[in-house]
Amino acid sequence: MTDTDRTHDVVVWGATGVAGRFTAEYLTERYGPADLSLAVGGRNREKLDALVDDLTGRSDAWDDVPVVVGDATDPESLRAIARDTRVVCTTVGPYTAYGTPLVEACVEAGTDYCDLTGEVNWVRETVDRFHEAAVESDARIVHSCGFDSVPADVGTLLVQSFAAETYGEPCEAVRIYLDGGSGSVSGGTLASFGELFEAAATDPLAREALRNPYSLAPRGERSGVDPGEQRRPRRDPLRDEWTAPSPMAPVNERVVRRSNALLGYPWGREFKCGEVVPTGSGPIGAATASAVAGGLGLFSAAMSVGPVRDALRRYVFPDPGEGPTREEAEAGSFLIRVLGRGTGADGPFTVEAEFGTDRDPGYGATARMLGESAVCLARGDVDSPFDGGVLTPASGIGLPLAERLRDVGFTAAVGES
Ligand SMILES: NC(=O)c1ccc[n+]([C@@H]2O[C@H](COP(=O)([O-])OP(=O)(O)OC[C@H]3O[C@@H](n4cnc5c(N)ncnc54)[C@H](OP(=O)(O)O)[C@@H]3O)[C@@H](O)[C@H]2O)c1
Repeated sequence: MTDTDRTHDVVVWGATGVAGRFTAEYLTERYGPADLSLAVGGRNREKLDALVDDLTGRSDAWDDVPVVVGDATDPESLRAIARDTRVVCTTVGPYTAYGTPLVEACVEAGTDYCDLTGEVNWVRETVDRFHEAAVESDARIVHSCGFDSVPADVGTLLVQSFAAETYGEPCEAVRIYLDGGSGSVSGGTLASFGELFEAAATDPLAREALRNPYSLAPRGERSGVDPGEQRRPRRDPLRDEWTAPSPMAPVNERVVRRSNALLGYPWGREFKCGEVVPTGSGPIGAATASAVAGGLGLFSAAMSVGPVRDALRRYVFPDPGEGPTREEAEAGSFLIRVLGRGTGADGPFTVEAEFGTDRDPGYGATARMLGESAVCLARGDVDSPFDGGVLTPASGIGLPLAERLRDVGFTAAVGES
């Protein structure tokens, strides 16, 4: 099938949910029907029609937005959508529960795909089941195109590209710092968290995916020198302050290592990356790092006990579909710094990238990161050696994504430190 046979450039699949709605709103605000043939998809036609009324009511450019209806549990409906679309951009999660048939349909149809997953166990499953087939069919399956893991992965690519150009050598190690931010969490995100802990408790393969720092590397390459995520408060080796473990490190670090592996180890076989939350210097910094580490440890411990996990999911977490309002998604902010350290002909050097914006990281900002990832794939605006495969943002799209995000108000800057 050629691309000209396909009706839609991009289908936002799951557009009636929190993240999907923000993504559809963003794309209809940023692009017109002449620039982008967009459709919204989901399982409930009434909700989709109401969404289209809202989208067209807010926009002078869009009189209508086509709707595609299917169900994540009905593979034939997903095949029909995949065959008729250039890029399926999906926010239907938890991906462990709902994601696999859509990836399979896109791989079969040679359709590009991007998502918001942070479920490492599920990414490992798609790597093992679909990577080779996706290479064969020229389907670019790009996972984790939101706050997990664009800033960390593309931020690392910015650092490494600058190091190679300026010093002729990559950085041997990068540290990713969550330097600031404020935002919210939706019921859908907490449902995915719940699914991740459920998988870790019941599925040995999921446990292995979460234990091994190299679990997302290609088969046969799943070991190395990097010890994996920091689990305790520590004084930082590069900055004069304390750091705590980052809740996103288990995803982001593995995605960055997969980027290095897929690209053929341009950053070296001994490349190390670590993501942390900086907490400041002195006794207050140390106490804050201990409190953050303790809080995360407590949450993980609670989520690892079946009855406690069930009770939290049932009585404490908001329901899927609940989440920030439009105003809340457009507020908030985040700033991530990536510091790289290397050795060139003239001695050691340090490179720093900044990645951030003034919007809620998981929603307003994520809608832009995911939407622009889909547009990059639809337009072929990528810097990647791959026409297909189970890929990462850095390996499957690359620096054109940073360029597009700069155009919509993101900071994505890099220089000597
Ligand atoms: N990486 C990041 O930074 C980031 C940020 C935000 C969200 N996320 C992830 O994105 C995912 C979605 O989050 P969310 O808050 O948007 O969730 P949500 O509000 O619950 O939305 C889920 C969507 O999936 C649809 N859906 C559920 N079951 C379906 C089925 N069987 N067939 C077709 N569609 C189905 C829902 O349709 P109905 O409306 O009909 O129920 C809804 O459109 C989660 O996995 C979350 O972790 C990641």
